[in-house]
Amino acid sequence: MTTMTVYDLTKGKAPQDATRDEREIRKALIPFDVRFERWEATKQLASGAGQDAVLEAYAKDIDRLKKIGGYQSVDVVRIHPEHPDREAMRGKFLSEHTHADDEVRFFVEGAGAFYLRNNEHVLKVVCEAGDLLSVPAHTRHWFDMGPKPLFAAIRLFTTPDGWVASFTGDKIADTIPKHEP
Ligand code: LAC
Ligand code: NI
Repeated sequence: MTTMTVYDLTKGKAPQDATRDEREIRKALIPFDVRFERWEATKQLASGAGQDAVLEAYAKDIDRLKKIGGYQSVDVVRIHPEHPDREAMRGKFLSEHTHADDEVRFFVEGAGAFYLRNNEHVLKVVCEAGDLLSVPAHTRHWFDMGPKPLFAAIRLFTTPDGWVASFTGDKIADTIPKHEP
């Protein structure tokens, strides 16, 4: 189940109580124009299953998404707690950035925390298997997979280039609690 925590930037970044209430989460996402859906992610993925196996298991969902969104490229990020590059991978997304493309992520295993930021709030949205999130282009955000990361996410891009980020240089991500479940 998705969990959201709201940090109020106008009140010294005080966090509100975390919520799992879907209506509340949807309401908070409205000003961010984020698309949030709950899908089924019930396929068993073998522990060694790589990108191709994941894409094959969810081929129907991916086709559906491609049709709605005109996405051109798709890839899979899958990581487990013993991954030798986990620290570097965690670090890559930990600073505030934007993309010229929508950030579309369908979580099919495990969980990870998105942080969305506007002038008033930071929303921490912990996505779990079945959650589909689309963060509009140019939205300031970062992502924390945590110290013992476990997730698989299908990523869809409207550009053929795949993942390209512009880091804002703002240090806000260092001032909001990390995702350390
Ligand atoms: C990304 C997320 C994780 O850019 O922010 O892929
Ligand atoms: Ni991003």
